[in-house]
Amino acid sequence: MRKIGVGLVGWGTVGCGVVQTLRDNAGLIESRLGTAIELRKVADLDLDRPRPVSVPREILTTNADDILDDPEIQIVIELMGGLNAARTIITRALEKGKYVVTANKALLAHAGNELFELALRQGRSIGFEASVAGGIPLIKSLREGLAGNRINKIFGILNGTANFILTRMTEEKLSFSAALKEAQELGYAEADPTLDIEGIDTAHKLAIASAICFGTSVQFDKVHIEGISKIDPVDIQFAEEFGYQLKLLAIARQTNGGLEMRVHPTLIPRTHVLASVKGAYNAVHIEGNAVGDIMLYGMGAGMMPTGSAVVSDLIDIARDILSNTPSRVPPLAFQPGRLQDIPIKSISDVFTSYYFRFSAVDRPGVLSKISGILGKHRISIEAVIQKGRHRQDSVPLVMITHEALERDVRNALDEIDKLDVLLAPTPLIRIEDNC
Ligand code: NDP
Ligand code: HSE
Repeated sequence: MRKIGVGLVGWGTVGCGVVQTLRDNAGLIESRLGTAIELRKVADLDLDRPRPVSVPREILTTNADDILDDPEIQIVIELMGGLNAARTIITRALEKGKYVVTANKALLAHAGNELFELALRQGRSIGFEASVAGGIPLIKSLREGLAGNRINKIFGILNGTANFILTRMTEEKLSFSAALKEAQELGYAEADPTLDIEGIDTAHKLAIASAICFGTSVQFDKVHIEGISKIDPVDIQFAEEFGYQLKLLAIARQTNGGLEMRVHPTLIPRTHVLASVKGAYNAVHIEGNAVGDIMLYGMGAGMMPTGSAVVSDLIDIARDILSNTPSRVPPLAFQPGRLQDIPIKSISDVFTSYYFRFSAVDRPGVLSKISGILGKHRISIEAVIQKGRHRQDSVPLVMITHEALERDVRNALDEIDKLDVLLAPTPLIRIEDNC
């Protein structure tokens, strides 16, 4: 039987994982597929830089056109990252009638709708398993395994770097920058780590996964995004005293007022299963109306886990090529004409509980002033801890609220922070007790 020819653009961290998996598991893959996957060419800009996985010199090239112009290559793997050049490579590959596999969630978040449309027009497909949750087969689970369900909610930890940093800050009391440096050395972080630490990468992934779950187009610009770079380690410690752990969560759920799509640092009960997700691991909780609750867990980043996801797409597409069913599963799981415009809820309309840390003057009557303003804005206090004196003149007053409307919370904090007894702006962290 004919081989399936593959070309790889981007011999970096994930590219090396793909090369190694195709090499180590060649026999196994052929046994499953009934034919071999042949890596015919690998393109990268710098062919002399040492890599963890080698490639025979004769298939290396610095020119991606060598891949696009090779008629024996049916599937192009884009693992170079970035937006414009990657978009051009994918567009040209599809226009030339090739199938595409990519791990590029940033590109899919920004231009996925248009690229998926082009693939459909060309009678081809784009595999993007590696773009969300690294090695976890989340896309396949959502598009196929849960195809019989109405999905009500998806939430979880979708960025290995941020989870690694928060784990190291919580368990080893490492500084933010030391933990980030470790994550970069381990190959988890994006070329621009701002994407990881500011929640943007998580939002890229949430936008892609939500589109599949709820049958909308990819709506990255509607995701509310907050990152972890401004987290003060004292809040991690104070929250622990209330029984909470800090995670960067991606949350999307259907509510009466529309679809919530948000990414922000979140306190979860230390007994919650997501609290035990450490390091670069990701975990995703999905609630379907037939299946109930399910949880997927695994490595969300790194050379081999992400390479595994890319190779699973290659095998899927190879099966489609062999059976001549090019777009068997629609890109976003729904038939293109059946994607809906669901209103996205503003963060001001979200209803949840909150953690506040007031930097207040240590003087009689301060707590009653703060609680009076909270009460006026319909915010009810669940617990308060006053810590020992922080600086000479201020004391951290740490508070947990019952569920409240975010708009009310913002208005209350604006008023409280103007009080002359408050010495610094009040940090707020959302709490998910019932996720
Ligand atoms: P790397 O930076 O390690 O690898 C990218 C490689 O592509 C580099 O060797 C780069 O060369 C090369 N490259 C850049 N531009 C071109 C071009 N025009 N032609 C040919 N080669 C080019 O990135 P990763 O492997 O970490 O990530 C690749 C993609 O996978 C990204 O989209 C990323 O978001 C995604 N991803 C990464 C994960 C991870 O754990 N690392 C996990 C999931 C997804 P040079 O270095 O010389 O610029
Ligand atoms: N930088 C990403 C992360 C890679 O840390 O999760 C996986 O998408």
